[in-house]
This record gives sequence, structure tokens and C-alpha cells, in this order.
Amino acid sequence: MHFLDLKDFNKSQLRTILKAARTRKQARARLAQGELDADQPLKGKIIALVFERPSTRTRFSFEVGIRQLGGDVFTASGTEMQLGRGETVADTARVLSRYVDAVMIRSKKRETLQEFASAATIPVINGLTNMTHPCQVMADVMTLEEKNGTLDHNKVAWVGDGNNVCASWIEAIGILGGEMNIGCPDSLVPAAEFMTWAKAQNAKVQVMRDVEAAVAGANCVITDAWVSMHDEDIENRHNLLRPYQVNEALMKGAAKNALFMHCLPAHRNEEVTDGVMDGPYSVVFDEAENRVHAQKAILLSCFGKL
Ligand code: CP
Repeated sequence: MHFLDLKDFNKSQLRTILKAARTRKQARARLAQGELDADQPLKGKIIALVFERPSTRTRFSFEVGIRQLGGDVFTASGTEMQLGRGETVADTARVLSRYVDAVMIRSKKRETLQEFASAATIPVINGLTNMTHPCQVMADVMTLEEKNGTLDHNKVAWVGDGNNVCASWIEAIGILGGEMNIGCPDSLVPAAEFMTWAKAQNAKVQVMRDVEAAVAGANCVITDAWVSMHDEDIENRHNLLRPYQVNEALMKGAAKNALFMHCLPAHRNEEVTDGVMDGPYSVVFDEAENRVHAQKAILLSCFGKL
């Protein structure tokens, strides 16, 4: 089974993945990073990681997680493959399907992921596209729930660009429950398809221009870089998003002890101040760690092992 977007799954399926992630994390609490999980459920499996965009967390968290599960892994960038010289995405998918047991792909465009997944005969995992980042948000939800209880009892505030991570958060809220305020400028609201989908689910997701109103009472404040890997209008984005910086004053308007989350990499003192990033309620490095645990559970789900 592919793992392309959260909206492809129901609540019970996402809950099963989150539970497995927590269980595996707890089970290896005393193990060194390089030690294998006792059951080695991916023994004999090989997974390819393909990146059309740079990555630190997605690459290393998948590599570590696959090794801990007893599997083998190798990584390539799109430019070092024939994909970068015009071989079709579909043919690449057909070939890799003969070599490996699953592929995680980070693609510049969602259409590339979709074409790859349609042609592949093995599970394909979305490691980020211009539109969504579901692996990140599974780790985010896991992190929030470790600290604050289940998502359906939380109100999260997304601050800044209504980007691909925001889109996967909308899908998480639509499936798992909870409330989400999105504080962003008019020109950087989430793509209409996500808001239309959220409305059809009766999800409690609203977009507001007023950033203070968006964070009021929220028990988790989330932001992301002002300029994502696929964006070009850098100066304009900085001008639009400067009023949406997450700083100590903004956090004071959120609920007492509200968490701060950021998928990283952070641009310190742009979208978030040092004081918030390094403050007592910042869980950004827990999020980064949980990429490993969440993705291990996602992989097991793809292989029908949950
Ligand atoms: N958050 C995230 O996906 O990080 P990388 O771009 O480093 O993989």
C-alpha cells in the first residue's frame, strides 16, 4: 500500500500507525541508535530513497529507521539518476520496482509522485511534494500527543505560509479531529482544494488574517520557513510574512504552556525568534526525532505488517 497523503487513510488506520510509532519508540528506549529492533520486521527488504530536493531530516530519519527495522536502504538524488536526463518518471518507477521493495520519493511536483506511484508495483511513500508533507505531520501529531493528549482535544494555530506542511496538518485535523486556526496573509492561504476538503469533512479549520486572533487560546503554535524550496518570490514573501513571526509576544496570546512546533530547518529570527525556538515549550527536536519512529510505523503499514 502506498503512503501518499493523509486523506487517503481513515481515522482507524492513522491511529494504528501512531500507536505503532509510540510502541516502537518505547521499546527501544534503552537501545543505542544503531541497535536493531528485536523483531527486525524489514529483514530482507530493500528500500530506495529518491530526492529531487535537498533533505536532512527525511533522508537520515528514513535511513536510520529502515536499518533499525532490519532492512537495507540506499539513497540517490534525482540529478544523479537518468530521471535527471529525461527518463520518464513512470519508467523509473517500473525499473525500481524490479530492484527494491519500496520507494520513498521527495519530488518537486506532486504530479511526479502521482505518476511514480501509478506505475510502481511496490509501495511508494511521499517524502514531501510542493503540495503536502504527510510523513512530517505524522511525526508532528505524535509529538503533540506525547505532550498534550490526543489531537481531538487540542487547538493548533498554524502561523505563516499556508504551505505543504500546513496542507497535511489540515488533513490530519480533518481525519483525527481537533481545531486548527491558520493565521496567514491573503495571498498565502492554503490551496483551495484543502479547504474545500476540510469543509466536506466538517473539520474545524479556519483561515484568518489576524495572527493574534489565530493563536488566541491555542495549545500548540506551529510555523514554517517563509520561503519553501519551490518558492521564488523571496523578498515579497519576507515582506508579507514579517508580521507573522512567532515571537515571545505572540506566544503570550496562546494558551498557558502552549507548545511550539516547527518541522525544521528553521530560519532563526525570521519566522521564529531564538527565544521561542530555544524556549521551554519548544518541541522542535522531539518532532525531528519522531520522524524516525513515525516513519518506521508508516513503512510497516505499507508492508501490511501492522
Ligand atoms: N522537515 C523536513 O522535511 O526536513 P528536511 O527537508 O531536512 O528533510
